[in-house]
Amino acid sequence: MGFPGSVPLVLLLSACCILAAAQLPLVINTWPFKGATQRAWDTLQSGGSAVDAVEKGCSQCEVDQCDGTVGYGGSPDEHGETTLDAMIMNGNTIELGAVGDLRRIKSAISVARAVMEHSSHSLLVGQSASMFAQNMGFLSEDLMTNKSLSMHAEWLSKNCQPNFWKNVIPNARKSCGPYKRMKGPWSKKHRMPVKVANVHNHDTIGMIVIDKSSTVVAGTTTNGASHKIPGRVGDSPIAGAGAYADSTVGAAAATGMGDIMMRFLPSYQAVEYMRMGIEPTAACQNAIKRIQKYYPKLFGAMICANRTGGYGKCSKQTLSDE
Ligand SMILES: *[C@@H]1O[C@H](CO)[C@@H](O)[C@H](O)[C@H]1NC(C)=O
Ligand SMILES: *[C@@H]1O[C@H](CO)[C@@H](O)[C@H](O)[C@H]1NC(C)=O
Repeated sequence: MGFPGSVPLVLLLSACCILAAAQLPLVINTWPFKGATQRAWDTLQSGGSAVDAVEKGCSQCEVDQCDGTVGYGGSPDEHGETTLDAMIMNGNTIELGAVGDLRRIKSAISVARAVMEHSSHSLLVGQSASMFAQNMGFLSEDLMTNKSLSMHAEWLSKNCQPNFWKNVIPNARKSCGPYKRMKGPWSKKHRMPVKVANVHNHDTIGMIVIDKSSTVVAGTTTNGASHKIPGRVGDSPIAGAGAYADSTVGAAAATGMGDIMMRFLPSYQAVEYMRMGIEPTAACQNAIKRIQKYYPKLFGAMICANRTGGYGKCSKQTLSDE
């Protein structure tokens, strides 16, 4: 036990969970997924490393199926299959492991760690990532549950609404596929309606852990967007987008409309703002503002922490009709 006598300070901000004692160590994550925060904290307290803490904390969410947006049995794709994206980044060594579109393996964050520790790659995707995982000893199993099957059945019964297609025939706003390309010029009515882009379709756990010796580690895990086109990989496993960590500065993690946010590398940007001496809250805000210049209605949230344990968050909860 690292802090005899100290009572962990538990703050529940609107979009975050935080555990911290006398500045460091620090555990902070997106959304009120308290089980994950506690697990990461307990891992540190029992002598685990910051990498262990991020892995165990995020794993807890995969097991708990946090909000149905992390782990198995949620966010079925167009074929009804749940697929997972995850990453972990060690800010001491700038090593990173990530998986995208991972199929039939429940513990995505642990597979991401295996990519980091047992390969020289950074990102493995799809069926081949599942084969890597099986070779590393992970169990291959069905990720579908009654809940994800019924979500998929309901989606089919509603003419495959909502979906992520645009500029196709037949009109994706009214019909199921298969779709073909529509010749331009295209009008806005072929785009995704506002209600698709809501917060519950875009949750993710992003976590930052800083241990007593200022080792900064960040991680993410998610089952992505419901009814996504098979093969879609979101921002969560992309370095600098879903998360970024550099122990000489701090770390950031982002959640929201990943398809748009990944184009701006907001986590990398926020870390760079902190490197310039900007405080964590302002670093988060500035990174989101850069996206809003192009996408004013974006929904996005970020957490930022600097190496001395200062932290901040910001969220922009407006819907988009991109
Ligand atoms: C899933 O649904 C099947 C058939 O509808 C039912 O037999 C089974 O008990 C359900 N499983 C769970 C875990 O609810
Ligand atoms: C970290 O952020 C806090 C504010 O949250 C600030 O007081 C502190 O100076 C920052 N540390 C560094 C090294 O920039």
